[in-house]
Amino acid sequence: MGFLVGYVLGFAFGVSMIVGFARHQHTRSKRRTDLAAAVASFARMTVLDSRKLLPDKLCPSWVVFSERQKLNWLNSHLDKLWPYIDEAASLVIKSSVEPVLEQYKSAILVSLEFSKLTLGTVAPQFTGVSIIDGESDEVIMELELQWDGNPKIVLDIKTRVGISLPIQVKNIGFTGVFRIIFKPLVDELPCFGALCYSLREKKKLDFKLKVVGGDLSSIPGISDALEETIRDAVEDSITWPVRKIIPIVPGDYSYLELKQVGILEVKLIEAKDLTNKDIIGKSDPFVELFIRPLRDRLKTSKTIDNQMNPIWNEHFEFSVEDVSTQNLTIRVHDHEGIQASELIGCARLPLRELEAGKVKDVWLKLVKDLEVQRDQKNRGQVHLEILYYPLNASSELYNPFNSDSGMTMMEKVFKHASDTVGSLASASELKKEVIIRGVLSVTVISAENLPATDLTGKSDPFVMLKLKKSEQKEKTRVVNDTLNPVWNQTFEFVVEDGLHELLILEVYDHDIFGKDKIGRCIMTLTRAILEGEFTERFPLDGTESGRLNVHVKWAPQTITRD
Ligand SMILES: *[C@@H]1O[C@H](CO)[C@@H](O)[C@H](O)[C@H]1NC(C)=O
Ligand SMILES: *[C@@H]1O[C@H](CO)[C@@H](O)[C@H](O)[C@H]1NC(C)=O
Ligand SMILES: *[C@@H]1O[C@H](CO)[C@@H](O)[C@H](O)[C@H]1NC(C)=O
Ligand SMILES: *[C@@H]1O[C@H](CO)[C@@H](O)[C@H](O)[C@H]1NC(C)=O
Repeated sequence: MGFLVGYVLGFAFGVSMIVGFARHQHTRSKRRTDLAAAVASFARMTVLDSRKLLPDKLCPSWVVFSERQKLNWLNSHLDKLWPYIDEAASLVIKSSVEPVLEQYKSAILVSLEFSKLTLGTVAPQFTGVSIIDGESDEVIMELELQWDGNPKIVLDIKTRVGISLPIQVKNIGFTGVFRIIFKPLVDELPCFGALCYSLREKKKLDFKLKVVGGDLSSIPGISDALEETIRDAVEDSITWPVRKIIPIVPGDYSYLELKQVGILEVKLIEAKDLTNKDIIGKSDPFVELFIRPLRDRLKTSKTIDNQMNPIWNEHFEFSVEDVSTQNLTIRVHDHEGIQASELIGCARLPLRELEAGKVKDVWLKLVKDLEVQRDQKNRGQVHLEILYYPLNASSELYNPFNSDSGMTMMEKVFKHASDTVGSLASASELKKEVIIRGVLSVTVISAENLPATDLTGKSDPFVMLKLKKSEQKEKTRVVNDTLNPVWNQTFEFVVEDGLHELLILEVYDHDIFGKDKIGRCIMTLTRAILEGEFTERFPLDGTESGRLNVHVKWAPQTITRD
């Protein structure tokens, strides 16, 4: 597993680097420029260097120091150290990995600890090494490592329904690229102040779970929950941008730590066409959203009972550490009471696709597995509205020298808040209290291509307008016998909290015996607040090609703060 390898690697690498540099140091001057080269010696080593560094038997005179040889050198060191690492690591790993697993453990698991842990006889192999250009006071090395180990790992788990069992983790196959950063470069031995390492890329992670003396499939949900916990822990606890820092020379290295660079605001609006997981009735869907799957950073939505097209209208905020590599992940589950909830589907949005300060409206298609496309079955879609803003943007994005007239409503809100307090972090705090009041005018112009619901091949459509939060309702008149009705009716709503309101437009067929729903579309008020007014042909969910033409206008009243 990645984190096992990570801890081992940190340990082994620390040892071998120090050994290497201690030797190296004897023969070199202490000039800083040389030191940088020295730290990078694995990749840049010449035949001459290697003679100074390596014992003769590892470095015959004819050696041209190729990548192959560097790897051989590293691997031979790791092989030799492995039994000692195994002995020392078991305790270290048990005490450091248990709390890690604890942070990611799925809700169905009450406790989880190692009752047995040895790393086995097969050492990981380095299969690639390269040096990356970094800043002037650091050297970055990337090492590809492959481990098809025979470790003995037994986890004792207790579940919420009271079952407790020993589970063996078997047949681990792992390939990943570790990034090691030596920083800062210093004048004293061993040339660098601290070492950061991180899993840059996970290429492969396979393992099998087996109940000791039993069958895992007899306890449904546990296998998935445990596998998810292990994968989350590997994917997050040591995967870039998360890094482990090992101070070598005493000092303050807090600046190497991962820091928040921005805030991601996510409005979870709705989902449609979710797969039904229940045999009786419909699923009770809820959503987990996260950037990092740590339990205290994972957000969970309300559960909507018995609904394949749920509307949540919930708002979440996440802290962002690295826009270029992090993703927003969402998992839609079916709530199953005290049992393990069942996954309906998941989706991922890379944060680098977002433009800072711009609201993005997205429908994400749900899949079974983010890594492999195991099946093409339709699992439904989730509708989100997303806004990313960097923490230091206040000066640039919301320049105080800009005249207010060019600013959108949202920017004024941000500016108002950031002028008062001076930073966007607190601006976001304030924004929660900022209430946007206004009058929303909705003109339901017309619809096209509605499906026929009556025997005559026509429908008698009308539109229901609803505001989700304030529960205001209006409806248009019925237009008889048509699939392309024109209503051209305008409705006005006084809105108290525009940032958290949701407009739902539902098209119905009027019937003497009631009404049949034809389709719907749902929107937040964000676009109206940002743009003032717009006209749009919204696709009607629930129809094949039905469209609803709507004109929306926002007239702000006052911006106040409680
Ligand atoms: C984000 O998703 C991409 C694939 O889209 C993946 O390669 C990458 O590892 C993910 N980043 C993190 C931090 O998990
Ligand atoms: C501030 O934002 C700019 C881009 O707008 C970025 O280049 C810079 O690195 C950021 N500074 C910090 C301290 O995050
Ligand atoms: C639509 O049809 C109903 C009866 O089906 C009738 O009562 C109503 O007046 C008609 N409306 C219009 C505008 O023609
Ligand atoms: C809707 O009504 C306005 C006036 O109220 C008119 O200008 C416009 O042409 C009408 N649109 C349609 C599609 O009937």
